[in-house]
Amino acid sequence: MTQDEMKKAAGWAALKYVERDTIVGVGTGSTVNHFIDALATIKDDIQGAVSSSEASTAKLKQLGIEVFDLNNVADIAVYVDGADEINDRMDMIKGGGAALTREKIVAAVAKKFICIVDNTKEVSILGDFPLPVEVIPMARSYVARELVKLGGDPEYRQGVITDNGNVILDVHNMKILDPKVMETKINAIVGVVTNGLFANRGADILLVGTPEGVKTVTAK
Ligand code: 5RP
Repeated sequence: MTQDEMKKAAGWAALKYVERDTIVGVGTGSTVNHFIDALATIKDDIQGAVSSSEASTAKLKQLGIEVFDLNNVADIAVYVDGADEINDRMDMIKGGGAALTREKIVAAVAKKFICIVDNTKEVSILGDFPLPVEVIPMARSYVARELVKLGGDPEYRQGVITDNGNVILDVHNMKILDPKVMETKINAIVGVVTNGLFANRGADILLVGTPEGVKTVTAK
């Protein structure tokens, strides 16, 4: 089974968590793209979606799913998104696709976060995947120096501007033993918009595509 087939299995498995006649929160990435394909098969049974990126918005609209502005939506029952790494406490690193800030906003509103991954994303300690940090452009060098003080090795993601007009620093070589504390510390650096640790608001349900089928994990 290929990695993409495992992503597809996880993406389609998320469909059963979608509540009829609601607005669905939709993340970003190749795994979510499979979920959007699945969602299109029940588009007449939902009101529409709130999207976490311009890329997902374009795909949703192309498949005939209405996309709502989050400011006009009071409730999101379910948010479905992928991850770059997830540990057994349902803490995640996200933002490989540079959509972390909007993802974190939609996740904050949603009652339930369904994380969809293939089995390469499960880790015991977060940090092998470089941690993305979205930064206001003029603060880039200052934030990079502060990240070095926290033990990381930041690298400017050349040529990438986020949907919010900012830049990304990918922080290498961090062994993140306490994701909640690290998430809070990095967010406290002036000039940081947010970072890709999703620990203070982690996933509620994890669907992992594996060669043996989709494994379901529920937060304790
Ligand atoms: C985008 C993300 C994605 O969820 C994450 O990068 C996983 O992507 P993929 O499903 O393509 O492996 O956080 O900002």
